[in-house]
Amino acid sequence: MIDKEQLNSNIPQHVAIIMDGNGRWAKKKGLFRAIGHENGTKAVRQAVESCADIGVKNLTLYAFSTENWNRPKLEVETLMKLLVSSLKKEIKTLQDNNIKLNAIGNLETLPEKARTELLEVIHKTKENSHMTLTLALSYGSREELTKTIQEISIKVKNGVISPHLINETVINEHLYTNDLPDVDLLIRTSGEQRISNFLLWQIAYAELYFTEVLWPDFKKEDLYEAIYNYQKRERRFGKTSEQLS
Ligand code: FPP
Repeated sequence: MIDKEQLNSNIPQHVAIIMDGNGRWAKKKGLFRAIGHENGTKAVRQAVESCADIGVKNLTLYAFSTENWNRPKLEVETLMKLLVSSLKKEIKTLQDNNIKLNAIGNLETLPEKARTELLEVIHKTKENSHMTLTLALSYGSREELTKTIQEISIKVKNGVISPHLINETVINEHLYTNDLPDVDLLIRTSGEQRISNFLLWQIAYAELYFTEVLWPDFKKEDLYEAIYNYQKRERRFGKTSEQLS
């Protein structure tokens, strides 16, 4: 088990997590899936506090994907209720740790209550500066890229921008993540090794880390282990090892 003291000063500035395995965690224990999600929120709290503690500047959590709308109605309702209750409960944790809440995704599709609560916490924490916690809600990377292309196309049509001036910076500015840096480390729990339509553009050079641990069991030591593993890797961004040294 890795502890905090084993980490060096090369802390990834943007960590993104695909929190997977709540359902299997519950099934293994003979419990309802909802209980898995409920315990998932405890793991969220621990991940947020540990990231803030070690100096991660940006943490992005995949809380609900565009595809998750296809789950049984009752499960969708449970997840939305959990979101509202967690926001109410955790506003204090965010304020105490100087954390700013942010959200990415097609937020218009969220139930009114969830959206109102979310926007309220975003507003209340907007001056916080120690870490930005971004919740991906009703988020899908292809939807985000489609929206981006539509918005840029309209600007081209209206003569606001000319096609040859469209570059990576312009594209970045139109993504939901426009004020976030690229992802350095992407973690997925539960043994699945997929990206599932999450931050496809933003993870171009991210290090990928997969762990068998189911999300409700993901503790601060598991986060340290992921970061320790990240620190052992050489990020070459297309260059050779010799060029880096
Ligand atoms: C994946 O487990 C998890 C989700 C679809 C939702 C993640 C939500 C939470 C951790 C709780 C609410 C979050 C916040 C931010 C308040 P799964 O259901 O796909 O698990 P399975 O693959 O084992 O079925």
